[in-house]
Amino acid sequence: MGRIDLDRPVERRGTDSFKWDAVGRFFGREDVIPMWVADMDFPCAPEILEAFEAHIRHGVMGYTVRNDGYLAAIRNWFSSRHGWDIPEEHLAFSPPGVIFAVNVLLELLTQPGDRVVMQTPNYDALMDSVEKSGLEIARNPLKAKDGRYELDFDGLEPLLADPRTKVMLMANPNNPTGRLWTEEELRRLGELCLAHKVMILTDDIHCDFAMQGHRYVPLPSLSPELAEHTVLFTSTNKTFNLGGLQTATVVIGDAELRERYCGAMLRYQTRLDNLFGAIALETAYEKCGYWLDEVLSYVAENRRVLAEYVLEHLPGLKLYHMDATYFAWIDFSGLGKEEGLEDFLVKECGVAFTPGREFGSGCGTFMRVNLACRRALMLEAFRRIEAALKK
Ligand SMILES: Cc1ncc(COP(=O)(O)O)c(C=O)c1O
Repeated sequence: MGRIDLDRPVERRGTDSFKWDAVGRFFGREDVIPMWVADMDFPCAPEILEAFEAHIRHGVMGYTVRNDGYLAAIRNWFSSRHGWDIPEEHLAFSPPGVIFAVNVLLELLTQPGDRVVMQTPNYDALMDSVEKSGLEIARNPLKAKDGRYELDFDGLEPLLADPRTKVMLMANPNNPTGRLWTEEELRRLGELCLAHKVMILTDDIHCDFAMQGHRYVPLPSLSPELAEHTVLFTSTNKTFNLGGLQTATVVIGDAELRERYCGAMLRYQTRLDNLFGAIALETAYEKCGYWLDEVLSYVAENRRVLAEYVLEHLPGLKLYHMDATYFAWIDFSGLGKEEGLEDFLVKECGVAFTPGREFGSGCGTFMRVNLACRRALMLEAFRRIEAALKK
């Protein structure tokens, strides 16, 4: 065991946890094993709790500013972890989170009726941000090949060339598939966007969750032209399991766009951080890399154990390759349940996964399964499926 015990059960029911306490509302049943929404069942790093305690003892909860330590913490993290030196002046912020900032940028970069290229499947909140802003998604479906997804560059180019296309909105790694884009893929994609003057918005909120053998490459780090042409969103939310505290960092290379963005945030009165979000961000980036490393190893082992279990006991399930994130993307079509799959999993098995249909058409037989939980709980969920199939 490392410094933290990730097998220790932590009762989350009754704590107003969205993942645990909202299952009745979303799945119609209170006693399901919740492996859906993207938060981890693990308590955050003790250093973060100690920093909170120190502030609680001080007692004053007034407005905050971002000090030099806060900015340095972000820059040091990306420099030491990912080899990316973010110019300090490129940093901007979104205290309400990544999706808020994506919406502000869509508003700044488009007119109603414009098109936004997105790879599918993709995170539903990103797709909603586009469609509910009166914009059209130009879909560039990923191609599944041998349990892994590939970008479809042939399909991408005509979408980018369409004069109505103003933005490419992507996620690196992609949620739900966990596909992390390689340097070569990003360079090719970036060149196409530059050639067609399409601005890139890349949601890299899961970027710190790369599995062994995979490397996260920040798109703006590839060239000064791409840095000018990209807005990158990131956060401590997924990396350190701080979703309830919000806060996000936005890296905007284009000075004029950055100024417009900061102006909009000022107008919405959303420029100051939540006090605890700010304390957590600085502490996490400065002191908690070891915590992330332990969680990464644990989740990787969960994935390995699950693959072994599925191979032996649930041959109707197909696990896709997982480059990054803490999700398994699993095709359940081998069970032959068709439309009845969701009901079967919830009502007969008592497990709650995120249905693939939420991430775009063509994913109805898939489930996104959150593996950031105790291994024993994960195995219990799949044992329930096995038992229900035997009935
Ligand atoms: C790809 C992606 N982007 C954004 C978010 C949400 O970010 P925030 O809560 O900062 O808006 C999530 C959460 O699951 C996500 O998976």
